[in-house]
Amino acid sequence: MRKRIAVMKGDGIGPEIVNEALKVLETVASKYGHHFAYNFVDIGGVAIDNYGTPLPQATIDACLEADSVLLGAVGGPKWDGVPGDKRPEKGLLGIRSAMGLFANMRPAKLFPQLAGASPLRGDIVARGIDFMVARELIGGVYFGEHKTETVNGERVATDVMPYAEHEIERILRVGFETAMKRRNKLTVVDKANVLDTSRLWRAVAARVAGDYPQVEVNYMYVDNASMQIVKDPSQFDVIVTENMFGDILSDEASMITGSIGMIPSSSLGEGTRGLYEPIHGSAPDIAGQDKANPIGTILSAAMMLKYSFGLAEESDAIEAAVNRVLEKGLRTGDMMSEGCTPVGCRAMGDAICAEI
Ligand code: NAI
Ligand code: MG
Repeated sequence: MRKRIAVMKGDGIGPEIVNEALKVLETVASKYGHHFAYNFVDIGGVAIDNYGTPLPQATIDACLEADSVLLGAVGGPKWDGVPGDKRPEKGLLGIRSAMGLFANMRPAKLFPQLAGASPLRGDIVARGIDFMVARELIGGVYFGEHKTETVNGERVATDVMPYAEHEIERILRVGFETAMKRRNKLTVVDKANVLDTSRLWRAVAARVAGDYPQVEVNYMYVDNASMQIVKDPSQFDVIVTENMFGDILSDEASMITGSIGMIPSSSLGEGTRGLYEPIHGSAPDIAGQDKANPIGTILSAAMMLKYSFGLAEESDAIEAAVNRVLEKGLRTGDMMSEGCTPVGCRAMGDAICAEI
C-alpha cells in the first residue's frame, strides 16, 4: 500500500517524539511491504518563526493533499508574548477546522504493566480502565465569538458557545457507532441544568438514540462526570461531549491511566483522512533532552494505520510491541517506577521497532 502522510513535528518535544513514530512507521512499512511518503510541513511556533503565522497556507494544502496527518505538539514559552490570534495553538485549531475534523477520539486505557503509575487506589484500578472519550472538536466556545471590551470603565470579556443541531448530531453518531463496536454503552456528558447548548444536545441525543436501540444511553452532568471518572472509571464505555468539556475530561481520563505521555488520539471528519497526535503538549521543560515518552505518538501512528488506512494487523503489531517493551520493564522518566529500566526517547523508539 502507498500512502502520503503530512508530518508536522511542531515545537518542544514534538520533533523528538515524531522521529520515533516515523521510525516505527518505517519498520512497519518494510515488514509489511508498504510505502509511506512523508511531506514535512511547519505548524505552531516553528511556523511563526519561519513564516510569521502559526498555520501557513502551504501547511493547510499539504494536509488536504495527504492521505493522513501526523502531528507532534505545538507551543511553548518562547511564543507566550504573541497576540492571541497568532498563537501556536491557533495553528492547531485552524488545521482541525480546515480539515473538518469534528470528532476527536481519545482512548483512556490502562496498560496493566503501568497499574502502579495510576494515581487511583489499587482496588479502583483493579476494576479496569478502558473507555473512549469522543469530543466534539470544531464547535462550541473555542470557536464562538471572543471579545474583550470596556464597559463602565472596566474590561468585560465574553466567549460565546454556539452549537448547531447538525454539529451535535454528527458527533453523537460517532459516539453511538463507537459504542456499538465496544460495550454498547454511551454516556452523554453535558451541563443541561444550566446551558441551552446542553439541553439541545440532550434533545438531539434522545432522537438519534432511536437509531441505535442496542446502545444503552445515560446522561451525566460534567461536574459529576469529573467525579465519577476518579471514583469508578470502570462504569464508562464511551463518553460523548462538547469541545471544552471534552478537552478537560479527556485530560483527566488520561491521567488516571498513568502517564499523559502514553495516550494517542485521532481526529476524524467525514472521510478517512485524519489527524493523529498524542494528547500531551510540547513539554518545553524536557524538550531536547531525549527524555520524552514517544509512546503516545507511536500509538497515534498505530491509530492512523487502523482508522485511516484500514491496516488493522499492522496497527495491532505496534500495540503488541509497546506491550512487550513495557513487559520488559523499559520506562521513560514520566512512567518510571521501582525495578524498571530507565530509557530515553530514542531508546524507547528503538526497542519498539526491534519488537515489531
Ligand atoms: P504538556 O502536556 O506539554 O506538559 C505537562 C507535563 O507533562 C510536563 O511536566 C511535561 O514534561 C509532561 N509531559 C508531557 N508530555 C510528555 C511526554 N511525552 N513524555 C514525558 N513527559 C511529558 O502541557 P503544558 O506544560 O501545560 O504545556 C506546554 C506547552 O504545550 C504550552 O505551550 C501549551 O500551550 C502546549 N500544548 C499543546 C498541545 C498540543 O499541541 N496538542 C496540548 C496541550 C498543551
Ligand atoms: Mg487539552
